Amino acid sequence: MRTVTSRAELSEALAHAPRPVAFVPTMGALHAGHAALISAARASAATVVVSIFVNPTQFANAAAVAQYPRSLEADTRLAETAGAHLLFVPNADEIYPADDPVPAIDPGPLAARLEGASRPGHFAGVATVVSRLFDLVRPEEAFFGEKDAQQVRVIEWMTQRRSDRIAIHRVATVRDADGLALSSRNQMLSASGRSAAAKAIPVALSLIAEAFSSGITSVAMLRTLAERVMSAEPRVALDYLDFADGATLVPLSDEAQMSDAESGEVLVSVAAVVDGVRLIDAISLP
Ligand code: PAF
Repeated sequence: MRTVTSRAELSEALAHAPRPVAFVPTMGALHAGHAALISAARASAATVVVSIFVNPTQFANAAAVAQYPRSLEADTRLAETAGAHLLFVPNADEIYPADDPVPAIDPGPLAARLEGASRPGHFAGVATVVSRLFDLVRPEEAFFGEKDAQQVRVIEWMTQRRSDRIAIHRVATVRDADGLALSSRNQMLSASGRSAAAKAIPVALSLIAEAFSSGITSVAMLRTLAERVMSAEPRVALDYLDFADGATLVPLSDEAQMSDAESGEVLVSVAAVVDGVRLIDAISLP
């Protein structure tokens, strides 16, 4: 695996790279969830490019950017072991050069609710940096995790509007033994915060999945079951527990049945704050 830091080096390396190229954009602090993305990319394409860039435009402020975990040495080992050929680790000037302003990309209608409502501007930042990285890497395919369920849908929407029509692949969430979805943010949790998060978030989602498969289809009933679990962990401050159509992200009201989702898929999303760390998770039903 070769590591490059500038656009010029990236472009030179890609000029000789066998096609198709698969791309895995990341913000580093890589874990087994990222390894699953890289392995899936490797199984699908001749060349795998991974980027590590903590994108300032998707965070609320500079303190949040600074707080984001960084571990380049370990990341380099993980990316190589998982099958990456090229690691792109640019600084902010390479992505947002002062003399060549990057146009802001519209994140579209799926960006308004959920994380978009709680983190204004977040998806505009994500769409802009991913579009910029797509322009630099010019992949045929790109891989994103299902844990960031709204993000992958926003990126699919954005990609459909591009002329190069990159194929977007969704990769299943990887979970720790206690059920907590792997996230770079988990390492910012205290041991007790982590344990509270694991007892609340994945348990609430599993309970919804189990109740739904045993025949409960009322959104209100499923919500009540999950909220009971979440409220038993007072350290876990629930931001939202949301039932929405899996394609349009249009919310299902508490009066709705799960079958009211027009696409046939319901996305159940949770966001909660533990130890000041924002955690998200999601499942798709059926
Ligand atoms: O999911 C992430 O790590 C980031 O949002 C992404 C897609 C790399 C854009 O900065």
